[in-house]
Amino acid sequence: MKQKIIQFTNFSFQYDAQAEPTLKNIDLTIYEGEKVLIVGASGSGKSTLGKCLNGLIPQNDKGSSTGELTIGTNDFGQASIYELSLTVGTVLQDTDSQFVGLTVAEDIVFSLENDQRSQAVMQEALRFWAEKTDLMDHLAKKPQELSGGQKQRVSMAGVLIDETPILLFDEPLANLDPQTGVEAIKMIDQLYQEKRFTTIIIEHRLEEVLAAAVDRIIVMEEGRILADSTPNELLKTDMLQQVGIREPLYLAALKKRGFP
Ligand SMILES: Nc1ncnc2c1ncn2[C@@H]1O[C@H](COP(=O)(O)OP(=O)(O)O)[C@@H](O)[C@H]1O
Ligand SMILES: [Mg+2]
Repeated sequence: MKQKIIQFTNFSFQYDAQAEPTLKNIDLTIYEGEKVLIVGASGSGKSTLGKCLNGLIPQNDKGSSTGELTIGTNDFGQASIYELSLTVGTVLQDTDSQFVGLTVAEDIVFSLENDQRSQAVMQEALRFWAEKTDLMDHLAKKPQELSGGQKQRVSMAGVLIDETPILLFDEPLANLDPQTGVEAIKMIDQLYQEKRFTTIIIEHRLEEVLAAAVDRIIVMEEGRILADSTPNELLKTDMLQQVGIREPLYLAALKKRGFP
């Protein structure tokens, strides 16, 4: 039996600064261990949805909501950002703003240090996650000295080390070139295959994200969920083009050649 881990029920959210709701009547269930991709044009509400999951909304970005949202055992609006941080780990697109340590190693263990874990625990976790993210040779460097792809992996390691049951990636490829983007997606997938964290990836660079399989794609448009479907089903339709997401080039090429 699949266990629900996230449940939106007729959930709407309106920022105080906006005249209209940004999320409208969202009904969405995400099950434990699923890997889900959320796509949609810029401004469609993807990050807003993500911020409702990690608690930035309503704690940082104020507004009002109707309907219900539960995240693990937490109810939206009740749990603090700290409580939610034990359930949802977030990797943002702007990795530079996430660095807190003077070295890569310090940065990765920051949250454990904050929780006053022992040196032995920190060292073991550091070694484990630095190996997984291919950073063992960079631990003594300053995060700022690294390439974009390496910075991305440092942010990931710093989030993974908390072993939260849900991982949220908001446009993880935004600052990466296509090749590095594909590598990042493959690394996320490798970790997913091993640990089966519930993984939510928000991204509009579809072709690169689909370098690794996802269970479901959720399409957002103007604050609503337009489709919630498997990649195969969705790619057969022209919904992605309708909402301004570029379909993978190999599909465009096949269609042009007249393949159904
Ligand atoms: N902190 C905020 N306060 C008010 N409005 C916001 C805030 N953040 C985002 N919005 C508005 O919400 C809408 C959706 O934004 P966002 O969730 O960032 O979309 P996406 O991530 O899909 O690009 C936009 O119209 C944006 O202006
Ligand atoms: Mg966004």
